[in-house]
Amino acid sequence: MHNLNTQFDLIRQSATVAMADRILALKASGKNIVGLQVGDPDFGTHPAIAEAAFKAMQEGHTHYGPSVGTLELRKAIAAKLQRDEGVSYDPASEILVTHGGIHAYYTAMQSILNPGDDVLIPDPSWATHSNMAIMLRGNVIRIPAPAENGFIPQFDAWLKALTPKTRIIVLNYPSNPTGAFPSREYLQKLQDFAAQHNLWIVSDEVYGSLYYEGKPTCAADFEGAKERTLLVNSLSKSYAMTGWRVGFLAAPARVIQNALKAGQNSITCVAPFIQKAATFALTDPAIQQVTAEMRAAYGRRRELVIRLAHQLESDRVKITPPQGAFYFFLDLRALNMPSVEMCEKILDEEGVGLVPGSAFGEQGEGFIRMTIAASDEDVEAGFRKIVEWAERQP
Ligand SMILES: Cc1ncc(COP(=O)(O)O)c(C=O)c1O
Repeated sequence: MHNLNTQFDLIRQSATVAMADRILALKASGKNIVGLQVGDPDFGTHPAIAEAAFKAMQEGHTHYGPSVGTLELRKAIAAKLQRDEGVSYDPASEILVTHGGIHAYYTAMQSILNPGDDVLIPDPSWATHSNMAIMLRGNVIRIPAPAENGFIPQFDAWLKALTPKTRIIVLNYPSNPTGAFPSREYLQKLQDFAAQHNLWIVSDEVYGSLYYEGKPTCAADFEGAKERTLLVNSLSKSYAMTGWRVGFLAAPARVIQNALKAGQNSITCVAPFIQKAATFALTDPAIQQVTAEMRAAYGRRRELVIRLAHQLESDRVKITPPQGAFYFFLDLRALNMPSVEMCEKILDEEGVGLVPGSAFGEQGEGFIRMTIAASDEDVEAGFRKIVEWAERQP
């Protein structure tokens, strides 16, 4: 028998994918499912963005393009970072266009990670952050981010995890699955900690423009932070463009040089007609208005869940209102049941699709992730059913 890459033995098959398969099978059998498991906006991509892509195809932008991305799009990305985050990046040397946020994260990690390096990642967090680091032979250390601390690690937990091998901190704020983000002061302290110990900070900000009461601070928006910070972002969530696969990495020029090699030797380039559409999405004023309206819709649904939770007064389903992103990480620890079992039962008995909290790490056990990237009706009906189900348990 030929050997396989043993690194993959360390990666668990995603519970999210298993649950999605089960939901699809139930739907195919004709069952009516309220799908609150997805991480995909329920809004369509704006037709004007699709038109921009179509026009670019007709104009012949259907061949290989520059691997680093077109200068036009890199300029649009730099302008967005300046406009929305107040950080300044050189489009010529500090930006790489990628196949969505996930590929930006891949190129980021591939550029800086050496086998055996310690990578600090909060728990709970999106599984890909750990999985990718493991795939690249990093040594992942999870930093507890408990509900009791607003899903942000106690600062001491970072200090405790530090070893001579620690090289990278991975952040994702607003967080998938919790929607939490830390204060500016906390991030400043983390930047100081990173500076003191010579650590990189990889910050996945794909939900950065989806926030409710206050705005999250971009991880690079601190004195001296740019030299150690890698920003991962994409148009997927903010512009409802998940299927277009377009995003970017913003980082110091020497990191981008490595990231470009990683991109060039894995995907060649992002399709040039998609880059044209992405440039249009990032720069057209009317499209920025549409994204603001989507954010307002998520905000409305968030309020809806908060109101319902107050009304239903369940001791068994507790909420922490998300500060950003489009998920509620519901606390059902009172039931003392594994979250996979809870999700399977809620799906079978109530027809509501959810993601088990354990998919995001040990700290997620007892929680379930419910999206609000679904219609107001589905969000309301789904949340009611979850509470009714929980209240019926012995
Ligand atoms: C935290 C986080 N980062 C990145 C991604 C992937 O985004 P993209 O579609 O831009 O690859 C997701 C998707 O769910 C996510 O939740």
